[in-house]
Amino acid sequence: MIAVRFRRPSPFMSDRALHRVFFALSLPRALGEALDRWRAPLPLQSGRWVPMANFHLTLAFLGEVDARQLDQLLDADMGRIPPFNLQLGTLGYFAKPKVLFVTPHATPAELTDLVAHCQSLQRRVRAGRVESSFVPHVTLAREVEPPVPPAVMPLDLDWRCTQVELLRSVAQRDGVRYDALAQWPLYRPLRPQPR
Ligand code: 2AM
Repeated sequence: MIAVRFRRPSPFMSDRALHRVFFALSLPRALGEALDRWRAPLPLQSGRWVPMANFHLTLAFLGEVDARQLDQLLDADMGRIPPFNLQLGTLGYFAKPKVLFVTPHATPAELTDLVAHCQSLQRRVRAGRVESSFVPHVTLAREVEPPVPPAVMPLDLDWRCTQVELLRSVAQRDGVRYDALAQWPLYRPLRPQPR
């Protein structure tokens, strides 16, 4: 599948700026609200919550790309990876970046294929460092110092993943905003059915 670009022709080719971009699955609003309610009672002693509107699962972080690289990315084909389900339910913590997150109970093959595909696009445009140990996660809070808060209630959020986005990270005075530059619907090819 090729992407739905938000603006055509590309607004980027003439610009000299660098854009900080990554492939991601954005959490649908209703699930974001459910996750926000679930995390509210966690006794966070330090750090800061990620705003609900920023909830996402990063597939590949490309970092800064120029207009030519961005244009290549916007024209990329996402292949034929079908939609899939994730069950978000396990609380986790990355000690080095001090990130508190939730992770799916299991990683379906479609997610592994999607990450591999995004990484191949990353290699093709020669952007950033390809992550060698991918751990799917949705970040809940940053700059969290140990001890890490325990989960107060069980979590089991069923997330139907139906599209990939190329997000641009824009620094703002009060944090960061993510703009979707393109969306690729995940796609199950039609099979002829016997009548
Ligand atoms: P995180 O959720 O684990 O913090 C935008 O910055 C997204 O890219 C974030 O979700 C962040 O992951 C992810 N990311 C991965 N590697 C990164 C890096 N080296 N610098 C900044 N963000 C990175």
